Amino acid sequence: MVEIKYEFGDCRSLLKKVDDHSIRMVVTSPPYNLNKKYGIYTDNLQMGEWKKLLDETIKEISRILTNNGSFFLNVSPIPNKKTKEIIPLDSIAWEIGKRNGLFLRNKIIWHFNNMQNCVNRLSGRWEAILWFVKDIDNYVFNLKDVKIPVITKNDKRFDASSGRNPTDIWYFDRVNNMTKQKLGISKAPCVYPVPLIERIIKMSTNKDDWVLDPFVGSGTTLIACKKLERNAIGLEIDENYKSIIEKRLKTETSQTKII
Ligand SMILES: C[S@@+](CC[C@H](N)C(=O)[O-])C[C@H]1O[C@@H](n2cnc3c(N)ncnc32)[C@H](O)[C@@H]1O
Repeated sequence: MVEIKYEFGDCRSLLKKVDDHSIRMVVTSPPYNLNKKYGIYTDNLQMGEWKKLLDETIKEISRILTNNGSFFLNVSPIPNKKTKEIIPLDSIAWEIGKRNGLFLRNKIIWHFNNMQNCVNRLSGRWEAILWFVKDIDNYVFNLKDVKIPVITKNDKRFDASSGRNPTDIWYFDRVNNMTKQKLGISKAPCVYPVPLIERIIKMSTNKDDWVLDPFVGSGTTLIACKKLERNAIGLEIDENYKSIIEKRLKTETSQTKII
């Protein structure tokens, strides 16, 4: 049976307790500085402070990853609070990852349709998922586990029985308020979709590996790991998420040894 652990506090200090080279994959979605109401966390850092949070976190991630490990970072373009100019957080995050010794393997575009419509610019319909690896020549990549159906069975480029590469543009619906209501997690903002995290876990880890999410929020990464039999550690600054995580682990999975 896999272990699913979670701890509350600032991930920058909690990560220091994690052993070197002990985690196969880190996947996370940090606060985007969008003034979201996360509970006790105020999502309105100065850009310099946000970069420092990311830099200090990625430094620890780089240390705890196994040599063939991966780091998936989900960030979105955001409007500057004053000027409304768009800031490409993924470009900023790429530089920070690079500075901490990681290599970019793919920039995955997570495309969705269910989002508000803008009136003075094009409506945003994607977020970035940066796939970093510690060693560009050696990393886990289980392509066969994430293949998708071929488009036409007569296309000779593909073996119809084994499917095709899912490419670097992924469509997954965002978790909307109705779904959150159904799951009883209405208070959690920015919950990412379980199937999206499941694809990342299948692709970059094997059964019984350890996965970590330093900004785990409502526990989506923990749910996906439990379903796919991976051990998981979730870190979260706001202890109010404890009941949400517990509830989700009970209702969305079964047979979990919670520590
Ligand atoms: C975008 S949300 C993550 C949502 C998560 N992916 C989910 O599916 O629910 C970011 C989370 O980071 C937490 N957070 C902010 N600063 C933190 C820190 N220094 N250490 C740990 N967690 C932090 C916030 O409370 C928030 O829950």
